[in-house]
Amino acid sequence: MAKKPKKSQNAKAERRAEQRRGDERRREKSFFPAERRDGRERRAQERRRAGAFLSDIQELRRRARQHIEQGAVTVGYQADRETVIGVLNEALATEIVCVLRYKRHYFMATGIHANAVAQEFLEHATDEQGHADQIAERITQLGGEPNFNPEGLAMRSHSQYVEGGSLMDMIREDLVAERIAIESYGEIVRFLGDRDIVSRRMMEGILAVEEEHADDLKNLLATLDPTKSVG
Ligand SMILES: [Fe+2]
Ligand SMILES: [Fe+2]
Repeated sequence: MAKKPKKSQNAKAERRAEQRRGDERRREKSFFPAERRDGRERRAQERRRAGAFLSDIQELRRRARQHIEQGAVTVGYQADRETVIGVLNEALATEIVCVLRYKRHYFMATGIHANAVAQEFLEHATDEQGHADQIAERITQLGGEPNFNPEGLAMRSHSQYVEGGSLMDMIREDLVAERIAIESYGEIVRFLGDRDIVSRRMMEGILAVEEEHADDLKNLLATLDPTKSVG
């Protein structure tokens, strides 16, 4: 029973294909030279396209077999690998500094709102640690080495390590740091573009979380001090 409509669909498709072939034949024999030329050109174009695609596959297979020790980095990798590794190492330093700053704020939070705010700091610290791990993993996939050296860490980081005195100061400093990360990660995403899609998508994902963090902090500031508007 189920096969019947399929058969009629096939017949329909066959009729349409036959009609197309008929149209093509008519065009080839057309009285009008422009129509004849159109038909010939379209067929030649299709042949060229199919040929190019097939040779592309062979080229892809050949290239994939070359330098297989480079793992995920193929000959088709379009970015400058060293530059990408350098940029990702700066993002890694930024994340590590963020972990350290949020941890410090988590342990130093005091006052009547301390508990709720400290939980937010801890949550962000955990997210930043996850980002650092993701970035380090990607650096190794690209054949580079993640830089965890504490020496020069603050210099490599885009955001700063500011301890902050009061709870409000801490939240404000965290918001500033998140806004710096948002700006610089946006630039990294635009730099990567189509040249390293996997790194770009990873940074896009991280950027989205940083925006959420900034939003959380802005809401915290507004809740704790509604008299001050935050830009
Ligand atoms: Fe992060
Ligand atoms: Fe963040």
